[in-house]
Amino acid sequence: MVKWVESSVSLIKDTNEKTIGAVEVFRDLSEIRELETRLRSADKLAALGAMAASIAHEIRNPLNGIEGFSALLGRDLDESDPRKKLVKNIIHGTKNLNKTITELLVFARPLRLNFKNSSISEILDKALFFVTEEIKQKGIQNVTIRKEYGLDMDGLKCDPEKLQQAFLNLCLNAIQSMPSGGNVVVFTRSYGNDEPEGIQVGIRDTGIGIKNEVIQKIFDPFFTTKQDGTGLGLAIVNKIVEAHNGKISVESQENKGTAFYVNLPVNCDYECETFGSRWENNEFLVSQYL
Ligand SMILES: Nc1ncnc2c1ncn2[C@@H]1O[C@H](COP(=O)(O)OP(=O)(O)OP(=O)(O)O)[C@@H](O)[C@H]1O
Ligand SMILES: [Mg+2]
Repeated sequence: MVKWVESSVSLIKDTNEKTIGAVEVFRDLSEIRELETRLRSADKLAALGAMAASIAHEIRNPLNGIEGFSALLGRDLDESDPRKKLVKNIIHGTKNLNKTITELLVFARPLRLNFKNSSISEILDKALFFVTEEIKQKGIQNVTIRKEYGLDMDGLKCDPEKLQQAFLNLCLNAIQSMPSGGNVVVFTRSYGNDEPEGIQVGIRDTGIGIKNEVIQKIFDPFFTTKQDGTGLGLAIVNKIVEAHNGKISVESQENKGTAFYVNLPVNCDYECETFGSRWENNEFLVSQYL
């Protein structure tokens, strides 16, 4: 863990101006530094979001046209026709582009939280259902998922669908990090020093890990090390967690594995000022591009 510290030294002099000692004062700047970093990233995201939203629509319409016309072309071609493969490639490419655009829009749009009293175990179970579907669909072998729910409480005030999306993204990353198999553990426990402050959800894998030199960048939009990755998965997770006044952290060791921890405060008021937002029919509009 890195701590930012500022120090200043003052000399202590006696009545004859003779130096008899010194006082060194240290100030912990870690919190200020963290706030500065978050502010910078919020600025970056705001600019990016505005641009993304405006071009996404422009791209989407012709893209749907290309996919539709390619499907029509393909319909008239015989399976043995070499052009059939080319048409399939076009359709595959447009589908991938569509996925990117859709993720971009999810990321760029203001996040509306729809609060409900929920159970964290249920949210995780639903996310894990989609994870197992993905494993089956992709024919992934040798991956086990273990649930270690150490805590549950009904009535966690949150947006269950958005949190489900966040946990799904984290689990998919975990699975993608283990191309030759491994274990994923999904756990819940409480966190806090003296009194429990909230729920911690952890997702730990035994995958390839994250290189030290890139770990700072993984939450940046469009940062990806995958050939077919968009790099928006963790940016979306971060946005959802922050909207819940939560915090996400990561620990990783190359070739050993990675653990993501999501801390969700239980008694948080989701203060309007924090997000520059307002309550609206039980919905909470989080400031545009957090
Ligand atoms: N569990 C993990 N193990 C190893 N590396 C990870 C893990 N989770 C994230 N990463 C790294 O962080 C990068 C960013 O992740 P992110 O989910 O944002 O994008 P992505 O998975 O590459 O693409 P997508 O938009 O499809 O999710 C990944 O490309 C990968 O390098
Ligand atoms: Mg991902």
